[in-house]
Amino acid sequence: MSSQFTILDVRDRIQQAQSVTVLTGAGISADSGVPTFRGPEGLWKNFRPEELASPEAFDRDPQLVWEWYNWRRELLATKRPNIAHETLVKLETLIPDFWVITQNVDGLHTTAGTQNISEIHGNIWKVRCTQCQEVSQNTQVPLAFPPNCTDCGGLLRPHIVWFGEALAPKDLEQSYAALNRCDLLLIIGTSGVVYPAASFAPVAKDHGAFVVELNLDPTPHSPVVDVSFQGRAKELVPLLLKE
Ligand code: OAD
Repeated sequence: MSSQFTILDVRDRIQQAQSVTVLTGAGISADSGVPTFRGPEGLWKNFRPEELASPEAFDRDPQLVWEWYNWRRELLATKRPNIAHETLVKLETLIPDFWVITQNVDGLHTTAGTQNISEIHGNIWKVRCTQCQEVSQNTQVPLAFPPNCTDCGGLLRPHIVWFGEALAPKDLEQSYAALNRCDLLLIIGTSGVVYPAASFAPVAKDHGAFVVELNLDPTPHSPVVDVSFQGRAKELVPLLLKE
């Protein structure tokens, strides 16, 4: 971490940049009332990921997994993007090349209006057929069990990247392209422990990007980045936009 740069220095760098990439995690949606995964109030405090968010769990008990996702869908259906999501939408209109890589499955960036985005862990409002692999939008809350594919009748699963699963090649391609071409990488509200996103900061840095972290607490990214600011996304992110 460094105190050499102020948030206003970062704002100026962002507004002068040709290409900005943003990596977000659960912390940006925490200010919309969405629970994070880790930490004292995190989802993984009360639920075991391997019992709910893995292909093995779905094979074993698809109904249980769908109950958990229905619960999360019900919760998320009441949440709205916050000023941090909205600021990123405004920055996208100002910066020639702007790309958001999000680990969040809540869809709040796209609801806010972000256009250029890779949702690398999937989207809770999409379902995928376990037989024909067709992906479709589905915002039904709750989804009656068993949800079936309208094309082939196969069992539908959440279109989420579960533990032990690989990211979609297209998302990886888009993400690495964005990391390799950006002048500045902004990392907002991620604990930096889940791969491959945890390894994105050094990729951008190796290509000469200026790397900035905004987080409530220090993370494993903090010693690697050029500057790390501690605070809430809803308070810090708006400071990056000139009045
Ligand atoms: P985590 O829950 O691991 O981390 C959330 C981070 O946000 C922490 O570093 C907090 O300090 C920070 N934070 C909390 N509130 C904040 C606020 N208001 N403003 C700024 N920062 C805040 O969430 P992720 O890093 O996103 O995977 O977790 C990565 C992946 O692990 C998730 O995508 C999920 C999970 O298992 C899947 O669902 C596939």
